[in-house]
Amino acid sequence: MGVVGCGLMGSGIAEVCAKAGYTTLVREIDDRLLARGLERVHKSLGTAVERGKLSPSERDTVIGRIRGTTSLDDFRDCELVIEAATENPDIKKRTFAELDRICAPHAILASNTSSIPIIQMAGATQRADKVLGMHFMNPVPVMPLIEYVRALTTSDETLDAARRFGESLGKRVIVSKDRAGFIVNFLLIPYLCESVRMLEQGFATREDIDVGMMLGTSYPMGPLTLLDFVGLDTTLFIADILFDEFKDPRFAAPTLLRQMVAANFLGRKTGRGFYNYQAGERPPSR
Ligand code: 3HC
Repeated sequence: MGVVGCGLMGSGIAEVCAKAGYTTLVREIDDRLLARGLERVHKSLGTAVERGKLSPSERDTVIGRIRGTTSLDDFRDCELVIEAATENPDIKKRTFAELDRICAPHAILASNTSSIPIIQMAGATQRADKVLGMHFMNPVPVMPLIEYVRALTTSDETLDAARRFGESLGKRVIVSKDRAGFIVNFLLIPYLCESVRMLEQGFATREDIDVGMMLGTSYPMGPLTLLDFVGLDTTLFIADILFDEFKDPRFAAPTLLRQMVAANFLGRKTGRGFYNYQAGERPPSR
């Protein structure tokens, strides 16, 4: 297994692959980011041990299956590579072209993109039939779903092999066609944007919006808490891609969301979003 990128998603993907028994190579662009990513994996495995999901010796075995690198050339023996780099189409296309050159002709190449059409990455390779989307959910070790995206060119054999792989991770797999938002974000993003519009219009307090959906519809988190969790910048980025593709006002990002991103109120990752974590605020819980 190869994983490109060891950020929030890449480190989670590397962790679940290694937990399922795969020897996993994970690549970051420099030693500092690689060390930070591997540290994230160790921390999450530590939490799994604390929660009784893994024994200390299993944790050590899992850690032993993961190797970090800063060079894509090390991926030459990978059977499957999952790309989880920055959501930038040019970077992704370059990475796929490079992987196509490095990996064996039978290797499958997948992207964890949440929004960029898979055909763009497939078109950058000479193996468009062996390219698909594998959209993991955050937090990867906990969320039981992977959303697969079948590009126009993805073959049945690739999809079948990928499906067996996803199930070997203990995840449920769903399949979407290759259009912006796939299944989950196509439904989730308008819901999140609508919650921001509701707050912006002074229709209800942030706590009541969150508690309403948490207790009224049994979502684990209210929408504004989820926005803070996913990242306001990530949500805005996906909303803009959806709006570009469909020109539908459902996907139009609310002004408040855009302004909060400009103010660097990105959610948990910057300590402030709809709730001010730096100041000790906590979103409502059950
Ligand atoms: N490894 C393994 N298991 C872990 C773990 C880890 N590192 N950390 C936690 N767990 C387990 C816990 O033991 C617990 O298991 P149990 O249910 O068997 O007891 C379970 O995971 C829940 O953990 P916690 O008790 O710590 O936390 P909560 O119950 O508060 O749940 C949450 C946290 C899972 C984040 C929950 O609030 C949730 O599901 N929130 C919604 C997340 C969501 O919607 N994610 C998708 C975002 S959209 C996306 O990713 C797409 C992108 O393109 C935008």
